[in-house]
Amino acid sequence: MEEFPKTLSDFSVSYRDESLFMEDVSLERIVDAVGTPAYVYSQAHIQAQYKKLAEALKAVDYRVHYAVKANSNLALLKLLGNLGAGYDIVSGGELSRVLSAQGDPGSVIFSGVGKATHELDLALKAGIECFNVESAGELDRLAERAALLSVVAPVAIRFNPNVDAKTHPYISTGLKENKFGVLKDQALALYRRAAESEHLRVYGIACHIGSQIAEPTPLIQALEEMLSLRRELAQQGIEIDHLDLGGGFGVRYRDEPEFDVGLWGREVARLLNGTGLRISIEPGRFLTANAGILLSRVEYLKEAVEDAKSFAVVDAAMNDLIRPALYGAWHEVVPVCNDLQGDRLPWDIVGPICESGDFIAKQRTLTLKQGKLLAILSSGAYGATLASNYNTRGRAPEVLVHKDNWRLVRRRENLQDQLITELP
Ligand code: LLP
Repeated sequence: MEEFPKTLSDFSVSYRDESLFMEDVSLERIVDAVGTPAYVYSQAHIQAQYKKLAEALKAVDYRVHYAVKANSNLALLKLLGNLGAGYDIVSGGELSRVLSAQGDPGSVIFSGVGKATHELDLALKAGIECFNVESAGELDRLAERAALLSVVAPVAIRFNPNVDAKTHPYISTGLKENKFGVLKDQALALYRRAAESEHLRVYGIACHIGSQIAEPTPLIQALEEMLSLRRELAQQGIEIDHLDLGGGFGVRYRDEPEFDVGLWGREVARLLNGTGLRISIEPGRFLTANAGILLSRVEYLKEAVEDAKSFAVVDAAMNDLIRPALYGAWHEVVPVCNDLQGDRLPWDIVGPICESGDFIAKQRTLTLKQGKLLAILSSGAYGATLASNYNTRGRAPEVLVHKDNWRLVRRRENLQDQLITELP
């Protein structure tokens, strides 16, 4: 039998005898019903993570706006809405999802560098809480569309504080070489423009410096920069009472510690003390990453000859979970039934897709055989939402576990679903 860290519970799973469970549900049972590959999420984990944020910010006037892009399944949006969250969206499609999940449009923040006219219109008609504007062109277009619809648009300018989030370059967003936000002087100019427009209402300052941030320092530096921008705005007669601090709180994938929200919360409270400021935060990964696993079955084993590598070909692939291929991300892989005796070999766990970049994990020492079920951990954020139909593979189903119950919250995509939009 394999030895796995006692901390598996951090990843929402645990062994009972030799069988892997999520909460009180056997994962083998889920596979029997829905097959593989399949995503499975733990409701208890999401609730517990939400509670950690609430606890960390108890001294502050805050609201959590869940970053829908991390996992946009309607059941999760509903669950988070019931916990009290609003939403951070980046497209009209995500707004429609929030509305389908009976989310309150008045709790929606619209982020993103490239909002299209039809998306601005949809959000203006829905009456969202705030548009986080990222350029002069966007500000002008928003004012124009608001005028046409005879409404006033609440705006924050997304400020780029030029702070290094010290994360993977693809998910760093707060440096001046990144496409996101505007630097301080531009921000000041955009606020003056917004304050003069009768179709815009200055609502706050927004900032998001990156994702999978390991520790609070860069976020606190960014907050200090936001407070300094706020002071300069006040000198120009523009008062701000709301800050959107963005998301980015890192989680554990391997052996790194989770982002210390308690420490960060204390620093935020210290900096905000006496300012009367309300804040929003936009966590995605922190709430859902370690709530989710991707279940997969070993199709074939290709054992090494001479000095080649050993490959375990599984039925999940880069179209289901692209993070290893895209960022070289580490996801822990454990057997669903931990009953095998035998040689432990280093395996490259790869998918069936015709690309050498199609791997889930490399050089993992496991005892494997054909047909064995594996759980790929930390897959609840940026897993299903980044899935594609590459190689005409259907998207995997999604299951939500709650105590000793589970239910399908997205069925497996079939071939008809894929072909229906095509016009031969
Ligand atoms: N707010 C904004 C404006 C964002 O762009 C993002 C993430 C978030 C909030 C949520 O960040 P989080 O709390 O989840 O770190 N696909 C990548 C992550 C991309 C993040 C994009 N923006 C990955 O799999 O690591």
